[in-house]
Amino acid sequence: MRSKYVAGNWKMNMDKAGAVALAKDLVEALKDFDGKFMIAPPYVYLDAVAQILKGSNILLGAQDMAATDNGAHTGAVSAKMLKDIGVQTVILGHSERRYEFYESNRLINRKVLQALENGLEVVLCIGELFSQRIVGVTEDVCELQIRDGLAGVSNDQLSKITIAYEPIWAIGTGKTATPEEAEKVQASVREVIGRIFGKEAAGEIKILYGGSMNASNADELLAQPDIDGGLIGGASLKAETFVPICKSSLTK
Ligand code: 13P
Repeated sequence: MRSKYVAGNWKMNMDKAGAVALAKDLVEALKDFDGKFMIAPPYVYLDAVAQILKGSNILLGAQDMAATDNGAHTGAVSAKMLKDIGVQTVILGHSERRYEFYESNRLINRKVLQALENGLEVVLCIGELFSQRIVGVTEDVCELQIRDGLAGVSNDQLSKITIAYEPIWAIGTGKTATPEEAEKVQASVREVIGRIFGKEAAGEIKILYGGSMNASNADELLAQPDIDGGLIGGASLKAETFVPICKSSLTK
């Protein structure tokens, strides 16, 4: 059986003192639990949070990364730089990157390959707009994002990839997909992985759900057979709202 994975995407929130304090609280609260946990603070706080997470059971994640190696790329941060300060995993293709920063599937694919070449794990985000859902193309949109996003990824490398299905209309809106709605898409995502990488790979890959997940709805969502955890935004900004979701993930 696949074990669960709960990740907190802090987005562009917090100040340095708050980031350090939250990381300390999470290390303390989760230290006795045998699960897979990750937090992704803003770039400028990664180094400070890295010091707190050292030796803990919480992975350090970045929220994005450059598609290229070190060089003349003003404002960009490379996989090597992230590795250098202790980052283990990177969130790529988040809908806020796709829509606010015009990131294409092709650019996201270059980032995925760059991350893997440099030994970082990847959480690849996919998901549909509400306008796409109502015309019935959710599964097609997700399939394209997977096929393009994972182009050139080998079966060996796939073990470093987690998919996060985040319906865009559910992000930060308080409108969660119902467990059945989420499960239907997540099962189709697993089928797509099976068609590209084979049945065994499809059985192993973790597929998280993201979009207004919180302590009250986590149990029901995490009970679905194809929901292997959560990528949490708003509820990851406080220990009292994030820790219960982490704990829910252990009982499923
Ligand atoms: P919310 O949990 O705030 O809806 O955000 C989800 C998300 O985008 C995580 O990456």
